[in-house]
Amino acid sequence: MTIATAPGKIILAGEHAVVYGQPAIAVPVWQVAATATIEDAAPGAGCTLLAPDVDLCLPLATSNEIQPLVLVTRLTLQALALPPNPDWQITLRSTIPIASGLGSGAALSAALVKAIYAHAGRAVDPATVSALVFESERYYHGTPSGIDNTVIAYGQPVWFVKGTPPTPFTPCAPFTLVIAHSGLAAPTKETVGDVRQAWQADPAHFEGIFNEIGKIVHQARTALEAGQLANLGELFNRNQALLEAIGVSSPILTTLIDAACRAGALGAKLSGGGRGGNIIALVTAETQTAVQQALLSAGAHSIIVTTVGG
Ligand code: PMV
Repeated sequence: MTIATAPGKIILAGEHAVVYGQPAIAVPVWQVAATATIEDAAPGAGCTLLAPDVDLCLPLATSNEIQPLVLVTRLTLQALALPPNPDWQITLRSTIPIASGLGSGAALSAALVKAIYAHAGRAVDPATVSALVFESERYYHGTPSGIDNTVIAYGQPVWFVKGTPPTPFTPCAPFTLVIAHSGLAAPTKETVGDVRQAWQADPAHFEGIFNEIGKIVHQARTALEAGQLANLGELFNRNQALLEAIGVSSPILTTLIDAACRAGALGAKLSGGGRGGNIIALVTAETQTAVQQALLSAGAHSIIVTTVGG
């Protein structure tokens, strides 16, 4: 039996602008994870993908390739020059909330790729996992920048610029984020499409905003590398103002962000595609409980607390 896991993720700074060539920073969220378990099945049984939590049972031989997990399984078997339908039972489980901007799809695919390599007795590097998962991300997102598959495959904070190798890095001091889900699902494909339309209508204006976001991401990296958490919080607030300007915030996200800041967060912003999904609030040991309570009172659907780095 072989088991592999992959974490959830959030984007710290730079979402949307990253699609237009600006840098972004993403971090893994190890408090939630996807797991793939591979067991040998009876000879001739072929390969079956089981996801008991969502009642999914996909025999590889007859499943449609448009299913991203089937696609990534086939691509990984091909990459390893393995038979296309090995006698395996693959069980997928995840504690990552679905469709909430925490990378649940990419994490399942990453766990799957890692488990297949391990079961075949082969080592795999994060860049290979990331490239295979990217293919399934295309199914979810249309034209993804590649940041989700990258941070999930590397499992550590990454500095990401589309089309170039990522730079994993370690923040100088640990920091804690409260991640609050708005309870609203908002497909990233739609927000990315809306931003594209708006950019096409007024490219100069939108590129100006993307450049400003890029500058904030550079400053956020400096703040992380110097352990300047107050600066990082201020940069979250400035990034949020620019995300509002490109039209991807929403009343519920603004309500949650305001509640977190009033309760003492160093800064807060939406994370990911926006409109719905998550906000992240940067907290200290002293403010964490108050911020969590304020977020729940303001209507947060669920909360995850994660400490990054250190
Ligand atoms: O919604 P998420 O967390 O998967 O974030 C997507 C990030 C975007 O920049 C909005 C899109 C992309 O492909 O980078």
